Amino acid sequence: MRLTRVAASGVALFGAATAQEVTKYYDPTTNITFSSITHANGVSYRIALPIDSPVADAIFQIVSPNDFAWCGLAWGGHMTQNPLSVSWPTGQTTGQQAIVSSRFAYGYYAIPQPYDSATYTYLRGTSANATHWQVTARCQGCTRWSSSDGDFNIEVLSETVLAYACSSVAPEAPASNTSAFNVHEQFGIWGHDLQAGKSARADFDEWVRGNAGAEV
Ligand code: HEM
Ligand SMILES: *[C@@H]1O[C@H](CO)[C@@H](O)[C@H](O)[C@H]1NC(C)=O
Ligand SMILES: *[C@@H]1O[C@H](CO)[C@@H](O)[C@H](O)[C@H]1NC(C)=O
Ligand SMILES: *[C@@H]1O[C@H](CO)[C@@H](O)[C@H](O)[C@H]1NC(C)=O
Repeated sequence: MRLTRVAASGVALFGAATAQEVTKYYDPTTNITFSSITHANGVSYRIALPIDSPVADAIFQIVSPNDFAWCGLAWGGHMTQNPLSVSWPTGQTTGQQAIVSSRFAYGYYAIPQPYDSATYTYLRGTSANATHWQVTARCQGCTRWSSSDGDFNIEVLSETVLAYACSSVAPEAPASNTSAFNVHEQFGIWGHDLQAGKSARADFDEWVRGNAGAEV
């Protein structure tokens, strides 16, 4: 089965890509508790989940040094056949300073397509400064999906395999979430402890309520 094969290759890559660990991380800007990993390239990927969810629901945060002009999170641990949250700074000095593009790749030799089954809501902590850019968003539809590989629901797992990809080359139209972009310069696959970022539904809902529509 594909998941098993990917998980096995993830273990192999894990040692090469990073020696960092997944830890519980409290973000003082949003009050959200995430499970977080910072890879050797300096980019952090953070995930918060409600313990019980009737729908696919998650909050994620990507924090990247300005060395990278886009970084994406692959929720199924590989490039194809899973939701991709591709994020980048818009280059604007006011308004929306970083965005997410919802994508799904059907193969390795084409740009991932827009993916309508995931809905994103930007939260406080979506910003850019002289050294970093970051996105904090709710994603409804990232943690459950169906593809030619089968039906997946990672919310019920305590640990899962995730993947990232990053490039220093900016998307063609950085202010647009449908922009074209080129292949990554780096990618990595790791085992992510989801449990460390699971919280009561009431807390999760409060984080969404308290941080949505805020000055990003
Ligand atoms: C124009 C866009 C893209 C192109 C042309 C592209 C192309 C490729 C190619 C040719 C490979 C296999 C060769 C290799 O191992 O280096 C690959 C692997 C990979 N890509 Fe992409 N890619 C793109 C975007 C993305 C995005 C947005 C993500 C994640 C958000 C991603 C994640 C990965 C991962 C994790 C792998 C490792 C193999 C796997 O586990 O599936 N790629 N990509
Ligand atoms: C975070 O928690 C502090 C202390 O409880 C509170 O004052 C603040 O309004 C909260 N911020 C958000 C974004 O919820
Ligand atoms: C771009 O943003 C719009 C408005 O929020 C959204 O409806 C659309 O799904 C997004 N497209 C992609 C590819 O993320
Ligand atoms: C810039 O943003 C990063 C990521 O959020 C943060 O760690 C850093 O403290 C910020 N720098 C300044 C000068 O505010």
